[in-house]
Amino acid sequence: MYQLTDEKRLYDQARRLLTDSEVTDPGVAVSQLREVIAYADWKYYVQDDPALADEEYDKLFKKLKQLEDRHPELVTADSPTRRIASGLSERFPAVSHMVPMLSLDNTYNADDLRDWDERCRELASVEELEYCVEPKYDGASISLVYENGILTRGATRGDGIMGEDITNNIMQIKAIPLSAPFANLGIGQIEIRGEVVIHKKDFEEFNRQRIAGGLSPLANPRNAASGTLRILDPAEVRKRKLNAILYHISFYTTDSEKAAANAADLRATELDTHRHSLEWLYKMGLPTPARQMRLFRHIDEVIQFCNEFESQRDELPFEIDGLVIKVNSFALQDKMGMTSHHPRWAVAYKFRARQATSKLLKVEFQVGRTGAVTPVAKIEPVPIGGVTVGSISLFNEDVVREKDLRIGDTVLVERAGDVIPYIVKSFPELRDGSEQEIVFPENCPACGEKLEKQEDMAAWRCISSSCPVQLAERLMHFASKDAMDIRSLGTANVQKFFDLDLLKDIPGIYNMDWQKVRLLGGFGEKSIQNLTEAIENSKKQPLNRLIFGLGIRYVGETTAKTLASAVTNIRELYDWSVEKLLTLEDVGPKVANSVSHFFSLPENRHMIDHLGEAGVNLLNEQKSAVGADGALSGKTFLFTGTLSQFKRSDAEAIVEQKGGNILGSVSSKLNFLVVGTDAGSKLEKAKKLGTVTILTEDEFLSLTTQQ
Ligand code: IVH
Repeated sequence: MYQLTDEKRLYDQARRLLTDSEVTDPGVAVSQLREVIAYADWKYYVQDDPALADEEYDKLFKKLKQLEDRHPELVTADSPTRRIASGLSERFPAVSHMVPMLSLDNTYNADDLRDWDERCRELASVEELEYCVEPKYDGASISLVYENGILTRGATRGDGIMGEDITNNIMQIKAIPLSAPFANLGIGQIEIRGEVVIHKKDFEEFNRQRIAGGLSPLANPRNAASGTLRILDPAEVRKRKLNAILYHISFYTTDSEKAAANAADLRATELDTHRHSLEWLYKMGLPTPARQMRLFRHIDEVIQFCNEFESQRDELPFEIDGLVIKVNSFALQDKMGMTSHHPRWAVAYKFRARQATSKLLKVEFQVGRTGAVTPVAKIEPVPIGGVTVGSISLFNEDVVREKDLRIGDTVLVERAGDVIPYIVKSFPELRDGSEQEIVFPENCPACGEKLEKQEDMAAWRCISSSCPVQLAERLMHFASKDAMDIRSLGTANVQKFFDLDLLKDIPGIYNMDWQKVRLLGGFGEKSIQNLTEAIENSKKQPLNRLIFGLGIRYVGETTAKTLASAVTNIRELYDWSVEKLLTLEDVGPKVANSVSHFFSLPENRHMIDHLGEAGVNLLNEQKSAVGADGALSGKTFLFTGTLSQFKRSDAEAIVEQKGGNILGSVSSKLNFLVVGTDAGSKLEKAKKLGTVTILTEDEFLSLTTQQ
């Protein structure tokens, strides 16, 4: 869809739109903005190669929305602003599919595939067939209709004949373009099929939120995708980060005579085989398996590929439950036809099941980082999809009650990809009377404190601030890969240092007594060096990782990013009210209350101060003063209090040398106030103004020495 020259032009166009503040011709501006946003969506969701920073994208989107609000006559059917649906869908009207949405026949092994290949070659009356092999996406089936190039309908599969019109929800999926250049090729109407999927990572976050909200988690990404498509609030659908892949054109019409001639050309060259059709859709800007699919001329090659691919299934970002093998030639597909259930020219090769039955032996209770006590089922170890499962989280008491689980029960276990294993259900009909009720503890299994249950929450919680397990868990979370990524610290070392009192709290990581560690034994000089280096490097981690690492309740990686990009310095969050937090995208009352509470507690402020003193980055570098070249151009500074690390005159010289200015007093013109000890009224005034970024000496140094 986009040639390299197009990409260059759109990229330049985006830069211009970002920097131009004046709009001379709103008509031109809206169409340029739309073009750039559609391009950015395509780069992000179809190519997986973002063209714009999130903030730049948001800025362009807001600009378009403002222009359209001012000039409603300029809104078009395919404007990306139409993705923000307002209000609730009342229900989903029934719609009939243009062509029935058939299912697929299944195969499970090489023999099944050989039989199928033989039948195919017989039906097609050929010796050799070309097969296309592509992933079988484990999501929710959809059909899309584009009319004159505009997406006009999105529907669920339903019973294959009638589905539900979920157009508003489909429009929340940014991988699906709202328009595509079909009309230029003379195609009036086209119906395309595909699958809505949810990435495993997003699915896990989705379940975390369900658990936090007291709901039981869903078993697999497929249920999450199909459930989300049927939510009545499109804004909620938008938050769930759905993705889509399209793999089949079921129908298209041509309108004019000229178009018919075009279409004949199309049929001869682009729509002659399955492979070409997916490449063609891909060129039209739609997400297809064009890059994943493989072509083979012999079933033995197909079988070999199926075996190889099965071992890689966990590496994909989303769940697949097999591969689909399709006869490549459309002419032969037509010749082979279909049954009432499935086409004869395609078959699914299903991977090994990821379910198994086992026995529930006992339930243990574990205390987590936030004090929540989680029941964990110990089952008779059983292999599922190549992994032996013996331990399964039961999340909370409600889940245990809802599923009517008892010790001694036979249970059905599912493991969806690298997603955590899950107990689907128990089999009450297999009980012999010896099964026992699961009893929840009243006291914290780690520190003995009485457990509490907050209203509306499913989890029992230990609220002791000195519960040792919680403290250790918090440290581990802070050091973990997605937080500060202090790799060599690891869970085992954290636990060891914690148990030996060498590490008591998060700032303690940056104040370890390495001499004592040496005396412990078991740590060579090399490993101590690795540890200290990893700790030192973590000081430079971006602010969102620090915020995530602090372990604020309900603040996952995404919310941490949102918070980080809203401030220049984490300390600004000390004074953010719940109302102000609620203005951030995707921050609801639960998150806002938790964040505001966290930053209001003196012990947390001290912790952050200690981290800052240790040299940990507390700044959002993108928003801070420094340009990519370290320039402070146009930024204003003022120093106050007693400075201990440098002379005021030297610091002022640095600012000026880098293009910044020194102001004489605190006013709305001031960007940065650098405070030493005993700062007085200037600091107060700056805080009151709320627009000034307050920096410690360390922060000033790290700001001005950035690359
Ligand atoms: S082709 C006539 N290709 O699997 C076209 N289906 O178990 C028939 N599915 O209902 C479908 N990935 O929802 C096709 N690459 C793929 C697929 C795929 C997933 C789904 C589809 C179908 C179901 C059958």
